[in-house]
Amino acid sequence: MKVGIIGAGTMGSGIAQAFAQTEGYEVCLCDINEEFAANGKKKIAKGLERRVLKGKITQESTDELLSRITTGVIGICVDCDLVIEAAIEDMAVKKQTFQKLQEICKEECMFVSNTSSLSITELGAGLDRPVAGMHFFNPAPVMKLVEVIAGLNTPSDMVEEIKRIATDIGKVPVQVKEAAGFVVNRVLIPMINEGIGIYAEGVADPSGIDSAMKLGANHPMGPLELGDLIGLDVVLAIMEVLHSETGDPKYRPHPLLKKMVRGGKLGQKTGSGFYQYEG
Ligand code: 3HC
Repeated sequence: MKVGIIGAGTMGSGIAQAFAQTEGYEVCLCDINEEFAANGKKKIAKGLERRVLKGKITQESTDELLSRITTGVIGICVDCDLVIEAAIEDMAVKKQTFQKLQEICKEECMFVSNTSSLSITELGAGLDRPVAGMHFFNPAPVMKLVEVIAGLNTPSDMVEEIKRIATDIGKVPVQVKEAAGFVVNRVLIPMINEGIGIYAEGVADPSGIDSAMKLGANHPMGPLELGDLIGLDVVLAIMEVLHSETGDPKYRPHPLLKKMVRGGKLGQKTGSGFYQYEG
């Protein structure tokens, strides 16, 4: 099966790796220009190199995995069987992407979105085919869950096919109904926002907050280091969707979260968030 992935950022490249590590999948990893797409593949190669050095995988399997990934712009998705949109969390950008895709992709090609919180029904409105949600979790090559979301007009056979594909690449699909933030982000992202509030009030420093949640709640990462991993811009975008879709003040993004995003402190991807990162 040939899978197109639109967006070679953290999630897009992670999803590309998740597919390419399964035999039988060819991946077209795209971005707005060749260089961004190639950088996504380089990021995958770097991560794999580390695992080769640790003796976790062989050079041969790494080469094989990378050979299944072609990079370029959206036009390379022309003969894909499935396209996963993993562009920025902006309804207009995502809708435009699907409009472009329907002009070039074959009729049978399935369209899905990796949106973390937006309406699948709205994403599919006005298109010549249905859209489903296929929501991966960061780091996508490792995390087992895929939330599979049906919009109002997503046929059940398409949902079943997406669940089958998720299982085929070693993931565990959980079908959820369309709702802001679906299941995981509705719980997880407000928790990160709360962690930011606790830090802003001076209750504890970042490592104190993170240690408390790791040791007291058995979370693998604390809320602030997890925010840095996800990207604070993504955290803010999801809080804004939860807030605007529900109108519930409990989802108000914390002012410190907004300030950090405005200041370009987005976490691991910019080298600085609640912690500093090198390389
Ligand atoms: N890419 C590929 N592989 C990775 C990776 C990455 N970015 N990060 C870690 N791994 C691999 C490692 O190579 C290692 O594999 P190995 O054992 O075969 O060598 C394995 O994962 C475990 O990694 P580590 O030993 O380095 O570290 P940990 O055991 O601490 O696990 C973690 C790292 C899996 C990231 C763990 O800390 C964790 O589960 N954290 C929570 C992550 C989480 O909650 N994600 C969800 C975020 S919400 C989201 O994504 C939704 C979106 O819409 C915002």
